[in-house]
Amino acid sequence: MTQLSNRISTRKLGNSGLEVSSIGLGCMGMSFSYGPPKDTKEMISLLHAAVERGVTFFDTAEVYGPFSNEELLGEALAPFRDQVVIATKFGFDLVEGFDPRKGSPGLNSRPEHIKAAVEGSLKRLKVDVIDLLYQHRVDPAVPIEDVAGAVKELIAAGKVKHFGLSEAGAQTIRRAHAVQPVAALQSEYSLWTRKPEDEVIPTLEELGIGFVPYSPLGKGFLTGKMDGSTTFDSSDFRSMLPRFTPEALKANQVLIDLLTTIAEDKQATPAQIALAWLLAQKPWIVPIPGTTKLNRLEENLGADSIVLSADDLRGIDRAAAAITVQGTRYPERLEKMTGL
Ligand SMILES: NC(=O)c1ccc[n+]([C@@H]2O[C@H](COP(=O)([O-])OP(=O)(O)OC[C@H]3O[C@@H](n4cnc5c(N)ncnc54)[C@H](OP(=O)(O)O)[C@@H]3O)[C@@H](O)[C@H]2O)c1
Repeated sequence: MTQLSNRISTRKLGNSGLEVSSIGLGCMGMSFSYGPPKDTKEMISLLHAAVERGVTFFDTAEVYGPFSNEELLGEALAPFRDQVVIATKFGFDLVEGFDPRKGSPGLNSRPEHIKAAVEGSLKRLKVDVIDLLYQHRVDPAVPIEDVAGAVKELIAAGKVKHFGLSEAGAQTIRRAHAVQPVAALQSEYSLWTRKPEDEVIPTLEELGIGFVPYSPLGKGFLTGKMDGSTTFDSSDFRSMLPRFTPEALKANQVLIDLLTTIAEDKQATPAQIALAWLLAQKPWIVPIPGTTKLNRLEENLGADSIVLSADDLRGIDRAAAAITVQGTRYPERLEKMTGL
């Protein structure tokens, strides 16, 4: 396995001036989505270990928990406040006491709701200013100009430094950017989710906006640690995803075969190749793999030292183009909230 060489390199997210480690840490799974919340002390140690290894980009959202993931980062990262960039997200209709077991929240990006959400995030993160604030999903009920306008006011008030969007379509990105420059888009992108290549990535390149691929390891699948016999209990979000049925997991092993072949050649792991492939696409791409384990954090950061040549990339593209991924990434209800 390719080892982490001391501290990892940094990248700039487009023209925003925001500089972060070339690989960030997705923190969602520490509190939300992938089974019960993990032990707080262990997660604090993991977050500290990430900082020690040069990670300066941490991803959370008010909906992760809800609220507890921001609190975890607030506590863990307080001693390193000046060294790290914390990104969070608003956009769901959450109130204190919201119970995710009783259903998923609706969208709410009304300007007054954004401002209230930011006050809550500032408190939980224990910061005076949010480094990067994303709209989590585009709210069809609120013109994006109003959302960008609200964030512009928060930036003018010194409560937010940079504006981001998540899973927004190209036209929305343009309209938002015209009101308040967008520093980064965060959307799903990986070897098995390549839709952003059609329209979104060219738009980001044209406008000088950074790209933060989420689920860069395909929610764990692209690491090669799952197969047709892997099961997820009902507290794991993957139990409701079409790509994680036993049939889809089995059919999609062909992608793992591809990653394993390249990994063997590079003395790396499939997870490292999946991340190195993303890093090789554009110098302004910063993936945020999520993990709750130190050995996997180190493995993932090792991707920073893997160089894929133009030939390697052509080979991967050719082989990937011959594979049809089985199962959609989200059920229809959730897919409908993306690309707007
Ligand atoms: N904007 C959005 O709508 C959105 C949506 C989803 C996620 N996100 C953000 O993106 C981050 C990353 O996405 P994600 O967590 O969905 O997916 P991911 O990073 O593709 O995969 C995470 C999963 O892979 C496992 N894993 C990580 N490294 C591994 C390795 N080296 N070997 C084997 N397994 C490994 C993790 O399990 P262990 O913990 O057991 O290692 C976890 O189950 C999230 O934490 C969140 O901050 C944003």
